[in-house]
Amino acid sequence: MRKPLIVGNWKMNNSTAESVDLAEKLKKVIKDMAGVEVVVAPPFTALGSVRKAIKGSNIKLGAQNLFWEDKGAYTGEVSPLMIRDLDCEYVIIGHSERREYFKESDEIVNKKIKAALRNKLKAIVCVGESLKEREEDKTMQVIESQLKKGLEGISTLNLIQGEIRNPKSEILLTIAYEPVWAIGTGRNATPAQANEVHTYIRKLLSQIFNEDIASNIKILYGGSVKLSNSAELMSEKEIDGALVGGASLEAESFTEIIRSACMV
Ligand code: 13P
Repeated sequence: MRKPLIVGNWKMNNSTAESVDLAEKLKKVIKDMAGVEVVVAPPFTALGSVRKAIKGSNIKLGAQNLFWEDKGAYTGEVSPLMIRDLDCEYVIIGHSERREYFKESDEIVNKKIKAALRNKLKAIVCVGESLKEREEDKTMQVIESQLKKGLEGISTLNLIQGEIRNPKSEILLTIAYEPVWAIGTGRNATPAQANEVHTYIRKLLSQIFNEDIASNIKILYGGSVKLSNSAELMSEKEIDGALVGGASLEAESFTEIIRSACMV
């Protein structure tokens, strides 16, 4: 059974004070919610303060990006070691905004995934097609290419935290299907559209790794997830949770999305 996972990607929003305020509100309201894993990914500048604010709660911390080297002369970059140092358990990699605005290629995504796994960070790897690609019926082709190139040279062993035979061992990889046309547009993929792509992703994962590993990797949906569509999306068999942008910036809407995942 894959436990639902809800991740709030705050993107480039919130001052430190606003981030702490949001984290404290969330801490209060979700303290009794069981059966769901919750992660917040504030901007780098607020990670340290949010870390303190969520201490002792069941909220986990994630970073929105990382560099692939552990240290050195890379002005402006943040290393996996620095992220670990702030108790981040997760890191988002290959978000379409980074692919588009910062020209992150699949090769860069691949280096970043390897850096995360090497440092025992859980990588949330984003894939997704543009509107043009969907209209040209290239969705599965794009997903396959992003996934295979992104995961090239990564073995089953790299993915497992702890003993390979220990059923409690955790998998350090999560995939997020985020169709570019659904991000920040208010237009979400229908549950059936998302489930179709998720099913395909799981099939690819079983080819890349094996069936057992693939059945344990969580596949999240992202793109205009909000209270009005989250329960329906989450009830699909292959949707294991959500990567939420805009609706994670308010405690009320994010809490309700988390609640909808608990009820599945
Ligand atoms: P929205 O929920 O604002 O559409 O953003 C989705 C996203 O990009 C999460 O990473």
